Amino acid sequence: MSERIKVLLSEEEVDRRIQEIGEQISRDYEGKQVHLVCVLKGGSFFMCELAKRISVPVSLDFMSVSSYGSSTKSSGVVKIVKDLDEPLKDKEVIVVEDVVDSGRTLSYLLEMLRDRGPRSLRLCTLLDKPDRRVVDVEVDYTGFQIPDKFVVGYGLDYDQKYRNLPYIGVVEFD
Ligand code: IMP
Ligand code: MG
Repeated sequence: MSERIKVLLSEEEVDRRIQEIGEQISRDYEGKQVHLVCVLKGGSFFMCELAKRISVPVSLDFMSVSSYGSSTKSSGVVKIVKDLDEPLKDKEVIVVEDVVDSGRTLSYLLEMLRDRGPRSLRLCTLLDKPDRRVVDVEVDYTGFQIPDKFVVGYGLDYDQKYRNLPYIGVVEFD
C-alpha cells in the first residue's frame, strides 16, 4: 500500500498559531516559571517551537508513553516507556502533546502526573480531533481542531515516517 500527503495546515499557519499560543502562555504565566512536559516523540517539534515563543522562564522535561503500535488505530493500552527526569512537585506544569485523539493517552497521563503534586497542571496540544474522543480530557491550549483524519508532520508520524514535514498533512492511501 502506498500513501500520499495532502497539505491540511501550511507551515505558515502552524507557525502563526504557535506564536499566538506562546504569547497567550506568556501572559497567563506572567511572573512565574513554566515547566513544559513533552510527550515524545510527536510533541517534540511543537514543544521546541512553542518554548522559543514563551517569554517567561521555561524548563523542559520529556516522557514517552505508547498507546499506538505502527498502525493508525489506538490500542487503548498506555505504557510509560520513558519517565520524566525531574519531580513535578510545586511546578507550573504544561503537558505538550501533538494530538488528542481518543483521549486515552492524555487522561491516563494527566491523572498520573497530578499525583506528583504540581502546583498547576495544564494541557497544550497542537491538534485536537474532538470527533474521535472516547475519554473526556480538558484541553487548555489548542492549536487547531481538525476533522477525523489521520495526519502527519510537525512531529506526527505514520509508521515513524513524515515527522520532519514542516506542515500538517493528511495521509491518503491509494
Ligand atoms: P489517543 O490516546 O487516542 O488520544 O492518542 C494519542 C496519540 O495517538 C497521539 O499522541 C499520537 O501519537 C497518536 N495519534 C493519534 N492520531 C494521530 C494522527 O492522526 N497521526 C499520527 N498520530 C496520531
Ligand atoms: Mg503523542
